[in-house]
Amino acid sequence: MSQIVKPDFIQEYVSLKPHNSFRFDATARFYGQITHLYQLDLAVKWANANRVSICMLGEGSNLLLTGDLDALVLINNLKGIALSRSENFAELTVSAGESWHQVVTYAVDNSFAGIENLALIPGSAGAAPVQNIGAYGVEVKDTLARVQVFDRSSGELLWIDAKECGFAYRDSHFKGIWADKYFITAICLKLNLDCQVKVSYGGLAEGLPSQPSIKQVFDRVCEVRTAKLPDLKMIGNAGSFFKNPIVTNDEYQKIHQSYPDLVAFAFEGRWKLAAGWMIDKAGWKGVSQDGVGVYEKQALCLVNHSTDRADSLLKLEQDIKLDIKQKFGVVLEREPVQLGKVPLI
Ligand code: EPU
Repeated sequence: MSQIVKPDFIQEYVSLKPHNSFRFDATARFYGQITHLYQLDLAVKWANANRVSICMLGEGSNLLLTGDLDALVLINNLKGIALSRSENFAELTVSAGESWHQVVTYAVDNSFAGIENLALIPGSAGAAPVQNIGAYGVEVKDTLARVQVFDRSSGELLWIDAKECGFAYRDSHFKGIWADKYFITAICLKLNLDCQVKVSYGGLAEGLPSQPSIKQVFDRVCEVRTAKLPDLKMIGNAGSFFKNPIVTNDEYQKIHQSYPDLVAFAFEGRWKLAAGWMIDKAGWKGVSQDGVGVYEKQALCLVNHSTDRADSLLKLEQDIKLDIKQKFGVVLEREPVQLGKVPLI
């Protein structure tokens, strides 16, 4: 170990069970909560000097922990929301450790439009750009102006324009080429002061007036999500476990011939297939095995009923992927980010 002294707030051998929404148990060799930016600077300098790798977590709601981490795990707990207004827009600068749903609630309470469809998505504001969270026809990239990052090698803070971040369906540079380069410390959202809401996503408009308010859309999204998705407080899960696969028109036509009731949406010249529909059709909905299962109301969501380790979930994932490949010829891709060694299953 180098001359740089380990900062006091860094602890050793800490369980990450409270820090991942699947509630799997794994131990962090080093662990620290970041509530001020100077702590991030201290922690990174110490880790870099001692060749300790670093993982930054928010609320761990898109995370699959498969084993202990021989690393420094930092929990991003940076808080604060700052507001600035122009004639047509409200800009919210939000620290990364704020809870995403609280940000949506703040925007809706102040009649700022653009993120009401993203209500009740678990996780922190800083995690939102990583997988470009999306629901009910809206993605965070639609309102994101820029992202503040901490450069892990230079220690600099810089703002990156949203256009530079490589956003795509459930994807960004933060998951790819920038995964080891930056930590997200804040985001800036540009929200509309006009009430322009989007309710074209299947079923969302049901029960709403023809020109719903931001609050009505928010309430409707909360209602639909609560009915379909498991409550994180009651049952471990990470939302959608698989991405909806995107296929060419030829591939789509082939599957459609065998399954005329296939649910799919035209997407940028190709087709996005409803993976939940395929898993459901293949008979997996509600299935439980070895303490884990497929949620009974949404087949895209895998749940942890009663286990501390991810092994049985990995087995279930493997079984589902194989079955979907055999039945539909489609390879499902996992959505949550995996950390930890891969156990032999
Ligand atoms: N479907 C079934 N059976 C199921 C699940 C879905 O037949 O068990 C059918 C539905 O009836 C519907 C279609 O599949 O016709 C799509 O279902 P849904 O509207 O529930 O959306 P999804 O494609 O399963 C995606 C996102 C969700 C997001 C919803 C709403 C991904 C990977 N998931 O799910 O995001 O909330 O749309 O926009 O794109 C998440 O990422 O964690 C997440 C929950």
